[in-house]
Amino acid sequence: PTIYVVTPTYARPEQRAELTRLSQTLRLVPALHWLLVEDARTPGVVATEVLAKSGLIYTLLSMETPSELRHRPGEPIWVRARGVEQRNAAVTWLRRERAWDTTAVVYFADDDNTYSVELFKEMRYTSRVSVWPVGLVGGLLYEGPLVRHGQVTAFRTAWKPQRPFPLDMAAFAVALHLLIIHPEAQFDPAAERGLLESSLLSSLVSRADLEPRAENCTQILVWHTRTEKPKLKHEEEMARRGHGPDPNVKL
Ligand code: UGA
Ligand code: MN
Repeated sequence: PTIYVVTPTYARPEQRAELTRLSQTLRLVPALHWLLVEDARTPGVVATEVLAKSGLIYTLLSMETPSELRHRPGEPIWVRARGVEQRNAAVTWLRRERAWDTTAVVYFADDDNTYSVELFKEMRYTSRVSVWPVGLVGGLLYEGPLVRHGQVTAFRTAWKPQRPFPLDMAAFAVALHLLIIHPEAQFDPAAERGLLESSLLSSLVSRADLEPRAENCTQILVWHTRTEKPKLKHEEEMARRGHGPDPNVKL
């Protein structure tokens, strides 16, 4: 089965670094198709260049987050979910272009997380929704499903434990055929904080359908790492003195 990896991304100083790292991880995975979705009206140069060099099978889409859903200056960063319209655009593309691919699997991989190559072996055969723990998320060393007799019976989570599916975006993969037979299912851009994953999963499966992976969810193969905002305070004064970045240098 092919794994379709859906990644929202947006232009910023660290974008090339994030996409280079992720593309080189994905390069180690067989039968993978990368759906990179730029949060902009048209795809950017960085995404285009990284993909061209990647050696991957890929599709580059663009979907701009509508202004009413975008983060506003001064607002706390968590008020609005990020990457939602981009993931939904990729799901729409999959329904239109890949409905015939009945064994395919879809994974939503943010551009800044850290992924083990082994993770993709775990999700490769997914009947409905496969799940595993995620490291360094939710204020914990890891968050993840608790498994008894091969079934997910509860979740290790400290934050809003009453969520229908207390799972991070990186904690699950979905069988494409489920998205095909539930044509209305999508990430709800209006979902309350922490309920974005639940907004999709609730329309696809119940908890009993979850397929635990990674040795009954005891192995951490993905980490919710976040990149520090680069400090660029000297660029301005350098530019003022005529020493801005060399136009030949790809940023
Ligand atoms: C957490 C979750 O892990 C995300 O899956 C969830 O979408 C996000 O919170 C949320 O609250 O919306 P976090 O590290 O806080 O992740 O979010 P980012 O990594 O900054 O953004 C998630 C994805 O959206 C990334 O792939 C990022 O490149 C993309 N993004 C971010 C955009 O496409 N546009 C933006 O304006 C910002
Ligand atoms: Mn992130």
